[in-house]
Amino acid sequence: MQKLDLLYEGRTKRIFASENPDEIIIAFLDNTTAYRGLKKSFIPGKGAVNNRISNHLMRKIAGLGIPTHFIKEINDHETCVVKADIIPIAVVVRNIAAGSLAERLGLPEGMAFDKPIIEYYYKDASLGNPMINEYHITTLAWATEEELKTVADYSLRVNMFLSAYLIDLGIALIDLKLEFGKNKHGDILLADEISPDSCRLWDTKTHERLDKDRFRLDLDDVEDAYREILRRLLGN
Ligand code: TMP
Repeated sequence: MQKLDLLYEGRTKRIFASENPDEIIIAFLDNTTAYRGLKKSFIPGKGAVNNRISNHLMRKIAGLGIPTHFIKEINDHETCVVKADIIPIAVVVRNIAAGSLAERLGLPEGMAFDKPIIEYYYKDASLGNPMINEYHITTLAWATEEELKTVADYSLRVNMFLSAYLIDLGIALIDLKLEFGKNKHGDILLADEISPDSCRLWDTKTHERLDKDRFRLDLDDVEDAYREILRRLLGN
């Protein structure tokens, strides 16, 4: 499968056109950034690990009947996906207080919620990805009420499935960020990635952080933590 023009270069991914106008190629990079791009680094091998983790989880999620953009893993760090119109919203689902929620509401990190909390953020890095609600999304026509209902339904189902799947591997899903797009027929698809860059994953026994917080908080062995997630998922 041949990569054609570079369509977009993000902080951690490059997107290329392919020979098929309905398909694009995502190349996962080894770059990592935090705090709106103020903190940057390079984690050798991270792109390949995230590519494999995300594809594995996308396949599992497709098995639940939730449409995803995943088509085919091309090589260790590149994947062919459906070209979708990205809805400019990051959906965050939280099971346990951490990160910005713990800080914003003064909650102790590690406090478990009786049911998941959904938050929406507007994907505009120049504005700092501000938090928004359903009214912003529908009034500003980022998604219709029906599309948003589908997005919320898929997000809660993905969260429920992943929480149960990961707990059997000794991993607690603290929170996760999902993104969605629409294919050429207008169907909603799960897009972007699901990886230790976009989720908080704690070891259930030791509570060790096995995700991007290791980088955000200047902890060591970021790469080993990502590889440990891959090892528990795929056994290698
Ligand atoms: P937060 O606690 O910093 O708001 O992040 C919640 C979760 O969502 C965490 O796992 C990181 C992830 N996330 C992203 O990957 N990208 C984003 O733009 C946002 C807002 C959150």
